[in-house]
Amino acid sequence: MNVLVIHGPNLNLLGERSPEIYGTMTLSQLNAELRKTARSLGIQLRVFQSNHEGEIIDKIHKQRKWMQGLVINPGALTHYSYAVREAIDAVRVRTYEVHLSNIHARPEPWRRISVLAEIVEGQIVGKGVDSYREALTSLSRNRS
Ligand code: DQA
Repeated sequence: MNVLVIHGPNLNLLGERSPEIYGTMTLSQLNAELRKTARSLGIQLRVFQSNHEGEIIDKIHKQRKWMQGLVINPGALTHYSYAVREAIDAVRVRTYEVHLSNIHARPEPWRRISVLAEIVEGQIVGKGVDSYREALTSLSRNRS
């Protein structure tokens, strides 16, 4: 099974950005963990990070024939990007929205809204790297 993982804006700064919220693991350490999980599940993984909405949309379009699953942490785009939502909707690939922190329990009201939640197969929040691991596991369990 082929799965694309996308990390959105500011996730390149993992490890130094608000470690009390997002932890001390860097993005490359997180990706190394995901590669291990993917290997154990028989998943072929591609990983992409961008700070740019359009690049994320282009990546979803370009990988649409290759990927059978998408795991996306859209960062702050979660809360307002109808363009990312429509890209995911357009390609009709099984998608999990993941967040390191629990967006529903954080103080800012705008963070509790996800414009993607309605169109994805699942949303997993607040489990750090395990949010991504659970998404990979769910995708591999119910292969279609
Ligand atoms: C995040 C939560 C978002 O609200 C925030 O903008 C991020 C990271 C998370 O993984 O917890 O950039 O998606």
